[in-house]
Amino acid sequence: MYAITVEDLVKKFGDFTAVNNLSFNIESGEVFGLLGPNGAGKTTTISMLSTMLKPTSGNASVNGFDIRTNEDDVRKSIGIVFQDQSLDEELTAYENMDFHGRLYRIPKNVRQKKIIELLELVELDDKKDNLVKTYSGGMRRRLEIARGLLHEPKVLFLDEPTLGLDPQTRNHLWDYIEKLNKEKGITIILTTHYMEEADKLCHRVAIVDRGQIIALDTSEKLKNDIGGDVITIVSQQKDDLYSIIRSLSEIKSIEVHDNFITIGLQNAEKHVAKIVTMASENGITIESLSIHKPTLEDVFLHFTGRTIREEEASTKDKMRMMMKGRR
Ligand SMILES: Nc1ncnc2c1ncn2[C@@H]1O[C@H](COP(=O)(O)OP(=O)(O)OP(=O)(O)O)[C@@H](O)[C@H]1O
Ligand SMILES: [Mg+2]
Repeated sequence: MYAITVEDLVKKFGDFTAVNNLSFNIESGEVFGLLGPNGAGKTTTISMLSTMLKPTSGNASVNGFDIRTNEDDVRKSIGIVFQDQSLDEELTAYENMDFHGRLYRIPKNVRQKKIIELLELVELDDKKDNLVKTYSGGMRRRLEIARGLLHEPKVLFLDEPTLGLDPQTRNHLWDYIEKLNKEKGITIILTTHYMEEADKLCHRVAIVDRGQIIALDTSEKLKNDIGGDVITIVSQQKDDLYSIIRSLSEIKSIEVHDNFITIGLQNAEKHVAKIVTMASENGITIESLSIHKPTLEDVFLHFTGRTIREEEASTKDKMRMMMKGRR
């Protein structure tokens, strides 16, 4: 049975379409990622699946329950960690957990046992009586995950679980998330704009952009489809370079971007000298050149012509993108 099914899901805010016809299924026991830049529609999607937001059209079910007609059963069967922190700062970790447990009407004796067990799982049991306002960002995130698991959900939604955390804390959290999936068999749907996170954690990744899925598969498959290696060349004369090397038989794909060219090919190290020689013979200056194995970033770039990082670069970019989306 699928843990989640999504069919032609749409969310409009006025005449702006934030989620545009999403369809996908998530297997029970899967870790599924929605990867995309700011404003892609990730949180909106999660909000609809967790019944926080009504879809404009389309269907979806979670744990077999219809998100439109069976909201209560959907809510009881899921755990959710929101993108924005939702802990009570003035309460201790234990009290935050206890409050949540009472909301879900978990009997006192079960609640007490379960809270300790979960705080041990995320290694916060020794700090259970400290006020949350004294917690670090990583500790808060771990507490929110523990809280989301208190009523033993089969499906856990994690909206940007490691946003803004340092790399070490992020790695640590990834271990917990993997453990939850492997040891407890919990289906996890997470959103992220960190490609490393999607790469590391997710069995399958849906790359979303402007409310649409532009690619969906295992990270391995998505990267392999780009083909072998990627050479990135930064040059002012990128267009000249493009016309000179485009017909080389070794090159599988070549794309021109703002101030650089990306080339997809097998065994890049064997062919790179030839490309550089051709450039210099034609008086083209190469500012920098790098060779790497394709990442999910390359996949995003391939489908959208933009990089996720570029999208993250400035608020101006974000505004521009939103304006484009609205047009
Ligand atoms: N309540 C709302 N009213 C109007 N527009 C909204 C509302 N909520 C979201 N949007 C717009 O819908 C788009 C998708 O937003 P959403 O929060 O789903 O993106 P996201 O992928 O989660 O981005 P981020 O990575 O920044 O969290 C954005 O352009 C956003 O401005
Ligand atoms: Mg979001």
